[in-house]
Amino acid sequence: MKDIKHITNKLAFRIILPVSILVLIAGIILYIFVLRYISDFTNQHIKNEFLWAWGEIYTICDKSLNELLKTNDIDNEKIVRIKKGLTISSIEDFLHQNRLKGIITENKKELLSCCNTPEKSRIFIDAAQANTVSSVKYDGIEYYTYQADFEPWSWQIIIIKDSTAYSSLIDKVKISYLSTGISLTLAGLLILCYLNRAVKYPINNIITSLKANKQPEYKGIYEFEFLSNSVAEMMEERQRMIKHIMEEQKLKGIRILASGVAHNFNNMLVGVLGYASLLSMKLENAKRENRLLKEEDLDELLKCTKTIETSAQKASTLARELSGLSRKKMLEGDSVGPVDINKLVTEMQRLLSDTFPKNIEVIAITDNNIPVITGDGMQLEQALLNIAINSKDAMPDGGKLTIQTSIADIKGKSKYHYLKPGRYAAVQIRDTGTGMDEDTLNHIFEPFFTTKPVDKGTGLGLATVYSIIKAHDGYVIAESTPGKGSLFTIYLPIK
Ligand SMILES: Nc1ncnc2c1ncn2[C@@H]1O[C@H](COP(=O)(O)OP(=O)(O)OP(=O)(O)O)[C@@H](O)[C@H]1O
Ligand SMILES: [Mg+2]
Repeated sequence: MKDIKHITNKLAFRIILPVSILVLIAGIILYIFVLRYISDFTNQHIKNEFLWAWGEIYTICDKSLNELLKTNDIDNEKIVRIKKGLTISSIEDFLHQNRLKGIITENKKELLSCCNTPEKSRIFIDAAQANTVSSVKYDGIEYYTYQADFEPWSWQIIIIKDSTAYSSLIDKVKISYLSTGISLTLAGLLILCYLNRAVKYPINNIITSLKANKQPEYKGIYEFEFLSNSVAEMMEERQRMIKHIMEEQKLKGIRILASGVAHNFNNMLVGVLGYASLLSMKLENAKRENRLLKEEDLDELLKCTKTIETSAQKASTLARELSGLSRKKMLEGDSVGPVDINKLVTEMQRLLSDTFPKNIEVIAITDNNIPVITGDGMQLEQALLNIAINSKDAMPDGGKLTIQTSIADIKGKSKYHYLKPGRYAAVQIRDTGTGMDEDTLNHIFEPFFTTKPVDKGTGLGLATVYSIIKAHDGYVIAESTPGKGSLFTIYLPIK
């Protein structure tokens, strides 16, 4: 459950994080765009206002000039001066009425009308550019200026606008942007929360069912419902296939077992029958000829009975091994009791050292912390022996066989998924033999699987090991590298 929470939280995080980043980036882009828009808008607005003001001022000047021309007073210096003075005051009135300021110079030198002080006016005169809106900072306030000339009188008229007049407009635009931004963010968050829930719930539902190995049954949003139904169908199909494969495997196992049994018993019976008929033929001949058996006849007859005995013995061993294979449940009976794995391994090492060819070195390494386990000592010994004999067969030119014990704590999922978590006494049997390829490795626990010649192996050794270890609730795992050797690990539960 903790896992699912983790997965869905991660999923929510994966959805929310990119969307939040996208919203943030969109907000920043929008903000930059709006700021640009505000500044463009302001500049255009100021420019329009300056052009309009200049148009009005030009009209005032032009009207005065025309009046002078009409009355032919243009050459009368005194009247012209008075008229210019009146024109300047009309311009000042116009500027004042429109909350504008202005400076008028003649030939760029003589100050005819100034704004506040002549010093301040000089700053505006220096900053102003002809027929362009430009800005200048004075006393921490930004001013926009626009200069145009009334050429007939060599006047330069500078119109000045205080930027504070626009700040309320800019503030208004900013506030409306911010409030729209905040509402959009809130709406976005609400949509995100809804999406988060809408996605999280069905996925949670499907994952929970999958974890419990049940078919998901989500009803709701079409896409998730479709997904849930598809997963359910796939699970059903999988179950059907597993059942089918298991039945096939079972049949295959029975087929292999039957043919193996038939083949092996037949081999043994051929020996028994052959020698039995030879024996009876010899006896019948002796009876027919009415003669006593000679020394060499007796030897031959004895050879026949010995061979019959060996074949019968083999058949009996095979029968015993087959009945051992059919064992399924946990061991029961007197043979079950405490088993000291280390003692078993040490004794086995001694036995193998004495019996295996001298070019095979047998080493035992034991971990003294392993507790005594419950099991059938004889059977476990048999299992170790079967594995060790295979190792010996895989090292025809000699090598090293190491049997090592240890405690294995399996936590969570291991490389071998079927190995249940828990505490085990592990026995590793490692050889430096021929090893096996993957194909061989996949079949070694099957009854009658062998790569050895007919008279050498029946292919029941490892099938018996598997059956013994299963009866102990344990596991046997084989690993091998062709040309390098093999490793068999037996895990026996410590209860
Ligand atoms: N240590 C090993 N190295 C290489 N091959 C191995 C090893 N152990 C088992 N095998 C392979 O696995 C096959 C099956 O082994 P298993 O012990 O079941 O049968 P067998 O040894 O052939 O016959 P049996 O043990 O019945 O006399 C062997 O024939 C061999 O090919
Ligand atoms: Mg074997």
